[in-house]
Amino acid sequence: MGRLKGERFELVTLHSGTRAIRERRSGEVMHPAVGPWAEACALYVDQLHLRERLCDGAGEPLVIFDVGLGGAANAAAAITCARSCGGGRRRTLELLSFEVDTEPLKLALDDPEGFPFLRPLADAARTLLDQGVWEEDGVRWTLRPGDALKALESEKARAELIFHDPFSPETNPALWTPEAFALLRSRARQDERGCLLATYSASTRTRASMLLGGWNVGVGAATGFKKETTVAATRRALLSNPLGPRWLERWQRSSARAPWGRDTLSAEEEALITRAIVPAL
Ligand SMILES: C[S@@+](CC[C@H](N)C(=O)[O-])C[C@H]1O[C@@H](n2cnc3c(N)ncnc32)[C@H](O)[C@@H]1O
Repeated sequence: MGRLKGERFELVTLHSGTRAIRERRSGEVMHPAVGPWAEACALYVDQLHLRERLCDGAGEPLVIFDVGLGGAANAAAAITCARSCGGGRRRTLELLSFEVDTEPLKLALDDPEGFPFLRPLADAARTLLDQGVWEEDGVRWTLRPGDALKALESEKARAELIFHDPFSPETNPALWTPEAFALLRSRARQDERGCLLATYSASTRTRASMLLGGWNVGVGAATGFKKETTVAATRRALLSNPLGPRWLERWQRSSARAPWGRDTLSAEEEALITRAIVPAL
C-alpha cells in the first residue's frame, strides 16, 4: 500500500477486507456498507440503468452529475460501464464530478491494490486531477472543483442522472437541505426524458428535503445493512417504486418530519409534502 494517511482522509480496510476511505475528523467512511465498487455499481450505475441509457437511441450526450467525487468509485463505475458497452453505445457520456477536496482520489490512486477498479483509469484520473478534464472516444470526465453548490449556481449542463453521494447530513449538512435539492432540480433535464437522482440515504428527513426541493421521491435499492435507499425523479412516472400513503402515514407520525437544516415545517410545506405523495389529498 502507498500513502495511508493524508491531512483530512485515511485508508481503512472494512471487515469484508475491502479498502475504503475515511474522513479523519468525522470518522465517516465512504461506501461503508459493501465497499466502494459494489455500492457504486449497485446504487448508482445499475439502479439508474446507465448501460441501457447509453445504448438507447442516438445523438444527445448523457450528462451525469457526480456529487462528491471522493475516491472516484462512482465515477469509475460509470466510465467502466460506458467502456463495456463497446460498439453498442449510441450516446456519449459527459461526466461532471463535483469535489471540494481531491485528497481522497490521490490516496486511492496511491493504493492500486486496494482500489483495483481505478487501475484501468489511473492515467485518466491523474489527467483529471492535473488538467481538470480527461477525454477518450465517447467519454468526457470533467472536474468541477470547489463547493458543489457554488459550482452548480453557474452550471450550464443539465443532468439526466445525479449520483448524490456526499457524506451524511451531519458531516456535509449543506448538500442535504431543501435548497440544495431545489438547486439540483433546477440543473436537471426538464424535458420528457427528465432526470433521476440516487442517494444512499433513506431517512425521513432526507426525503422531506427532496420533496420540498421539488423532486418526486421513491424507494431505492437495498445495500448492505440498509433495507432501502432513495431515488428521486423530475417526473413521478420515472420512478419504479414511488413513496405512497404508507410512507405518508409514517412521516405524519414521525418526530423527524422536518427536512435537514430546519426544526419545523410551515402549514404550506406540510401540504406540499402531502400532495406530492398523495395528489388527491
Ligand atoms: C462519501 S464521499 C464520496 C464518495 C465517492 N462518490 C466515491 O464514489 O468514492 C463524499 C465526498 O463529498 C465531498 N464533499 C463534501 N461536501 C462537498 C461540497 N460542498 N462540495 C463538493 N464536494 C463535497 C467530500 O470531500 C467527499 O470526498
